[in-house]
Amino acid sequence: MNMKCKKTVYVAMSADLVHPGHLNIIKEGAKLGEVTVGLLTDEAIASYKRLPYMPYSQRKEVVENIKGVSRVIPQVTLDYRPNLKKLKPDYVVHGDDWRMGVQRETRKQVIETLKKWGGKLVEPEYTRNISSTALNNALKEIGTTPDIRLRRFRRLIETKPQIRGIEVHNGITGLIVEHVSVTKGNKREEFDFMWLSSLTDSTAKGKPDTELVDSTSRFNTIHEILEITTKPIIYDGDTGGQAEHFPYLVRTLERLGVSGVIIEDKQGLKKNSLFGTSVAQHMADPRLFSEKIRERKKAQVTPDFLIIARLESMIAGKGVADALKRAKMYIDAGADGIMVHSKEKSPKEVLEFCKEYKKFKRRVPLIAVPTTYDTITEKQLEKAGVNVVIYANHLLRSAYPAMLKTAELILTHGRASEVAEYCMPISQILTLIERKGNGAS
Ligand code: SPV
Ligand code: MG
Repeated sequence: MNMKCKKTVYVAMSADLVHPGHLNIIKEGAKLGEVTVGLLTDEAIASYKRLPYMPYSQRKEVVENIKGVSRVIPQVTLDYRPNLKKLKPDYVVHGDDWRMGVQRETRKQVIETLKKWGGKLVEPEYTRNISSTALNNALKEIGTTPDIRLRRFRRLIETKPQIRGIEVHNGITGLIVEHVSVTKGNKREEFDFMWLSSLTDSTAKGKPDTELVDSTSRFNTIHEILEITTKPIIYDGDTGGQAEHFPYLVRTLERLGVSGVIIEDKQGLKKNSLFGTSVAQHMADPRLFSEKIRERKKAQVTPDFLIIARLESMIAGKGVADALKRAKMYIDAGADGIMVHSKEKSPKEVLEFCKEYKKFKRRVPLIAVPTTYDTITEKQLEKAGVNVVIYANHLLRSAYPAMLKTAELILTHGRASEVAEYCMPISQILTLIERKGNGAS
């Protein structure tokens, strides 16, 4: 065929887990003309499902070397239209599976856009028995490696405008966070990471949240969770402990594949922040805490591990201005992130902080923990500039009332029949772990 009259073909794909289905679409496209692959960027993929295993540059290298591909360009949104309008291809090729389900709307837009220059949509039959979802599930079964898991948190904050995490304190909570998802429109919502909360880890062991549970015990909790999950973990490091011990803490966390540690600017016997000023909360001297961060940054061996400074000013009744002053100092000292904490019912002071934080010349990812000010939405926090949201204690808090009620009802009635409504059926608990999804897959 004369190159000049060769037709042009556009194929969009993520190509993270390349399988024969992708090759078939490209082969069918190449029969029609010169194939341009619109490769979805990491941001585009993360906007509707999980972060890809391979970053854009690696996926590009793979796709460029597939027979039948003439060139690869980025597609920066799920929406095909911007690229289609630029390229005006004669054909778009996509498997026929998108006629149903969440991609229906995108398909309609593609057909309408192509119509403007007489282009056509070609839909080869979807390749059965293989799918990215199945491969993704198989990969999850195999697990991950510490360095992939560790790096994943940084990749997430660099790719998504906002990410969310929730606390874990044992294997079963890890499984819930790993597998639970809901579909909203054409988006799959899930938790991006796990928060190894000192409050829930201590409480689950029947101990107060005062740094009484030692790191060996906390590492055991981490081990339990690592064995059965692939998502990244952020470790609640409380005050950070003894300076001399900190390098050991960081290196152990890195070796395990934990992505970062958050340390709070308090000193003395730690009391949980949600007590607020009803107990003595001793703030650390900000210069000494900055020095601590500077020193602690030296302890890490991998570049992707994060040392995040947590501001307790608002918890200790010292106000927003003090928190802002400290945030600046900690960023200058090398903190990889700032966590702002408050125990007010209203998000007012956190939002006030965010507004001023936006004006900082040097900013690092901002983390909020909306436990007491829980009516605020993730979207509102995102608008305020919050990059990471942590639901710090909710799995334990929701499980405990059901357990307590169950124990009381058995005592009251002298039998177990009355507790059935609070309990999972026996048939489900027997298969819960084998099914992995806790009913949430
Ligand atoms: C934790 O989850 O242990 C925290 C957050 O440190 S808070 O309990 O709100 O202080
Ligand atoms: Mg804590």
